[in-house]
Amino acid sequence: MSQSQTSELDGGPIDAGTIFAVARANVREALVAPDSLSDDQCRRIIRRYTAGVGSNFVNWLAAGTVSCRSLEARYATAENLLIEIRDDHPGMLRDFAKSSAAEPETEDYRYAQAEARHVQDRVSEMSGVFLIALVGTLENVSLDYIPWLGIISERLGNDNMRYVDIHGEADIEHARQFHWALEMEAALHPKPKPLSQAGADSAVSFIRALFRADA
Ligand SMILES: [Fe+2]
Repeated sequence: MSQSQTSELDGGPIDAGTIFAVARANVREALVAPDSLSDDQCRRIIRRYTAGVGSNFVNWLAAGTVSCRSLEARYATAENLLIEIRDDHPGMLRDFAKSSAAEPETEDYRYAQAEARHVQDRVSEMSGVFLIALVGTLENVSLDYIPWLGIISERLGNDNMRYVDIHGEADIEHARQFHWALEMEAALHPKPKPLSQAGADSAVSFIRALFRADA
């Protein structure tokens, strides 16, 4: 491929709608029918999710807040960060895990952190486009997996659905906000496509790894 073809592919505006839609389809594909899971598998999914997302999401949002160049992306990440901390979403997630009798153990932290390490290696580059694509994708794919986690936790006797409820309605607005933020951040970068795709792919791989039923 010639130099000019490469820069043509890498350059130009990105389509956040398509990036997030493809990511959502890839995560939906990994959501195994709850009926086909054993109780042990359900518990392990919640333990790993709690260990992985509970320990990293706020950090990645904060990285976006300080790395994004556009006002729109800074606003989207900062507003989400404010809500995560003010309303203590990590604490809410731990309560959700506790009520599901699925609090993470050492091996769950080990597994989740090994997966998070792949993402963190890219997060440490502090690229606004990568970060807004990463957290925007996590926010968008949560529209699909949060109700699924709710069903799984109900099977385990969870009667505390606060984490599931809080990530329903409000997150539709947040997910939309990230479409706009990603496109605005990408517009300030000369070659935003590979970074946007890498951010979205990292989010999808991370979530899929946490939800693996077979290992
Ligand atoms: Fe949250």
